[in-house]
Amino acid sequence: MKVLVHIDEAEQWRDALAERLPEAEVITSAAPPEQRRQADYLAVWKPPEALLREPGALKGIVNLGAGVDALLNNPGLPEGVPIVKLRDAGMGELIGDYVRYGLLHFQRDFDRYRRQQHAGEWREHAVMDKADWPVGVLGLGAIGAKVAAMVADDGFPVHGWSRTPKALDGITCHHGDDGLEALLGRISTLVLLLPDTPATRHLIDARALSLLPEGASLINPGRGTLIDEAALLAALGPVDDAGSVGRLRGALLDAFPREPLPEASPLWRHPRVWITPHMAGPTPLGAALDQVAEALRAFEAGEVQDTVDPNAGY
Ligand code: GLV
Repeated sequence: MKVLVHIDEAEQWRDALAERLPEAEVITSAAPPEQRRQADYLAVWKPPEALLREPGALKGIVNLGAGVDALLNNPGLPEGVPIVKLRDAGMGELIGDYVRYGLLHFQRDFDRYRRQQHAGEWREHAVMDKADWPVGVLGLGAIGAKVAAMVADDGFPVHGWSRTPKALDGITCHHGDDGLEALLGRISTLVLLLPDTPATRHLIDARALSLLPEGASLINPGRGTLIDEAALLAALGPVDDAGSVGRLRGALLDAFPREPLPEASPLWRHPRVWITPHMAGPTPLGAALDQVAEALRAFEAGEVQDTVDPNAGY
């Protein structure tokens, strides 16, 4: 089989994949066009449109990330070619740590202490018990389920939400529109780990934000499109008054509808917003390559499972 790899630092991925799959010929997009055209499989992250159109007879595509939105929205994507994506592959734990950082940031009042520091104010706040700090995790796929479990292990009560019903140990699971409303009304911090699909776009709009308890906080290591940015800014309250808090106490954001986040975005300068550059869940090479090799072997054996449903968008 011939596998074409496209991702940052593709040579490193090519060599490591070739080691795991001695039976395969692994090339990168730097290979000559006649070689690229013969690829049986693509293993790609955000490939250019032209690259997707090149191969003559693709048998499968492996998405080198958890989110398939960029791939499914690529006009060069050939129809009917089965796609598999990375499932957790070590990203869940990294994102779980990011969420832990955010939770402690709000639950232990680091946001308040930062403002107090700017004002030279020495004042201690009583610690809220974790048991009284319910966390909502929207999205219970491989990553959402891992993050929910990590946060529950830390002692926070966790409410999870998914489109279809799920049952996870130690997590209070909700689903559907009613389930979402019930969850939003009772949590202290909302964590977004849903895929970007037509059904999830702007799920967190003015109405959803209005259902959150006063003083709730938001952590988004998922996709920027999940949030209506204007509604978020309105819920956070005024930009120029660092001391006053809107309904939403603060937001830790890692994903944005346009990345890099445009310089003009008011989010950059909002005193209760913390911005990170889509770094919550980088794909760890080793675990990811094990999954890629396994997926390619399954494709060849005609046993591939868990392919992406382009209509559902994940
Ligand atoms: C990163 O955002 C991914 O989808 O893997």
